[in-house]
Order: sequence, then structure tokens, then C-alpha cells
Amino acid sequence: MLIKIRKSWELPESEVLSEQSYLGRRDILKSMGIGGLIAAASGMVAPRFAGATTSDPSAHLYPVPRNEAYVGGRPLTPEDVATTYNNFYEFGSHKNIAKAAQALKIRPWTVQIDGLVEKEQTLDVDDLLSRMQLEERVYRHRCVEAWSMVVPWTGFALKDLVKLAAPTSKAKYLVMQTFEDKEVASGQKQFWYPWPYTEGLTLEEATNDLAFMVTGLYGKPLPKQSGAPLRLAVPWKYGFKQIKSIVRFTFTEERPKSFWEELNANEYGFWANVNPEVRHPRWTQATERDLRTGERIPTQMYNGYTDQVADLYKDLGKREILFR
Ligand code: MTE
Repeated sequence: MLIKIRKSWELPESEVLSEQSYLGRRDILKSMGIGGLIAAASGMVAPRFAGATTSDPSAHLYPVPRNEAYVGGRPLTPEDVATTYNNFYEFGSHKNIAKAAQALKIRPWTVQIDGLVEKEQTLDVDDLLSRMQLEERVYRHRCVEAWSMVVPWTGFALKDLVKLAAPTSKAKYLVMQTFEDKEVASGQKQFWYPWPYTEGLTLEEATNDLAFMVTGLYGKPLPKQSGAPLRLAVPWKYGFKQIKSIVRFTFTEERPKSFWEELNANEYGFWANVNPEVRHPRWTQATERDLRTGERIPTQMYNGYTDQVADLYKDLGKREILFR
């Protein structure tokens, strides 16, 4: 039986409230000085959640020095925009999930490392953080829905986690999974989605210098709505690859099927590399809306990271680079 699932990012562009009008509306409210009041009443915009990190035991680790090798190429997206316009289907299939995501308990939090590794292990996230070299990197972030932002992530190189995990020579892929808890994440009661959210990378991708495990944002611990306490940033790929609130890393020989691929492989393939020349069935990928300005700007191949990643895909065809 074919179930029609209505995702916000499946809406044709004409039906979606454009970021321009969304942000424009916020600016007008701000200038009137009543944005906060109306937001609180409507629950539409929730800047007060932007830095809801006071009880995070890792707060003392931030901020950390920025690695200037990673620059955004355009001004940073304001913090209250990046942390109130989110995709996190566990908490709802719309952008305004920041408040609902506060129900997520991020301590204690353990991550399991298993599959084709020398020794399976379960690590406490704070123990993991204490073993990793944290740095800040400014990355562009491009969603397949054709909006984008520029944000300062804090975290550590994913290749350092791969090293810690010590995969065996048979391992070809790294599979990542998000927590599962229907009681706090009501989206997971929607049985037609293939929970838990799952994503995967080849080991070559996972050990590329750009692949980053994110633990913080804007010099503070990562807000829950952004994927606390641990999420992925692979900025040359569409946002749906950048899995949030990870609890499990599994090394496999078989290529995994990711969450969206399982739902619709023609639209959300494994590679998902940003490519302005390959149109998604429902949206052109040639341009994107910058969440800061609301303006449309040209999309760059690999989101502008060609020098760092093109070698990984020299044997793939154009269409495969995006979807398969
Ligand atoms: N991770 C989980 N677990 N659940 C999700 O729904 N959405 C993805 C990705 N990671 C998602 C997820 C999508 S579609 C995007 S664009 C980014 O998270 C959004 O990240 P942001 O909310 O920090 O902008």
C-alpha cells in the first residue's frame, strides 16, 4: 500500500511560506517591539530557546578557538534565526519545533559504537567530549528545500571518532542513528516513518577533513532543537544527511538505507551531494534562499567545497552524485 506522507519540504514552493516573508514578518514585529510577545502567544518564533543551555554540564567547555581554515564566505546567520527555523521530524514536520525539542533529555547520554570494530564500546558523551579536540568552524548549510544558512559549529573531526572506534579492514560504511523515545518525541508516534532517523557515509567521506561532529553552536553547547548533544555536519551534502542527536555509530560492509531514502529513494538518495545542475523532482537546486537576507543566491557545486571533496566522487555520474 502506498501511503502519501505530507512532509513540509514536499510542498511545492508556491505553498510554502517563503523565508523572505517569514523573516520579513519577524523584522516588522521586531521593529514594533512586539515580536517577543506575539511569538510567545503564538509559539511561532521562540528566540528564548536559542540559548537554552544553562543545565548542560559541558557548558564550561565553550567557547573554543575558531579554526580560521573554515570560513562561511558570507555573513553568519543570526543565532535566533538558525535556532528557531529547524527540521527535526521527531518533534514535528514543520520548522517551529524548538519548544517541543526542549523535552529531550540530553544527560545522561551515551553513544554506542558497534559493528565491524576492534571492540564494541559504549561511551558517555561527556567522556567522549573530554577525549576530543574541540574547535569552532564556520560552515555553510544547504537544505534540499533550497534554503541555506552560515553557522559557527563547535565540535571535533569525525575522523577522530572513527580512529577511536578502530573499524576493522572489512568496514566500508559508517551508519549513524538518532535516539528513539516516543514519549518525548511525539513525531515518532507517526508509525509510517522508518524510525529511528538513520544516515550513513562511506568511510572515505567520514574521514574527510570536512566531516565534523557537532557539539556546540554560536560558542555554546548545541541547543536541543539543533541536535544536541551530538550531530553531524557534512556541509557539501544536503541538510537531510546531517543527522541530529546521535546515539549509535555502526560500522558496516553494506551500504545502509537512510531515513529519507527508505521513504522515497528517487528524491533522497544516499550521496545527496549539493549539485546546482541536478534538479530535485520538486525544487530547482540552481539557487537557494539565504535565511539571513531572504535573498536568492546561486548554489555552488558541493556547496562550494569542491576542492575538499570532489576527489571522493570522481567515479560517480552526475545524477548519482546527487541522489543515488
Ligand atoms: N536529524 C534528525 N534526527 N531528524 C530530522 O528530522 N532533519 C534533517 C537534519 N537532521 C533531521 C535531522 C534536515 S532535513 C535538515 S535540513 C537538518 O537536520 C536541519 O538542521 P537545522 O535544524 O539545524 O537547520
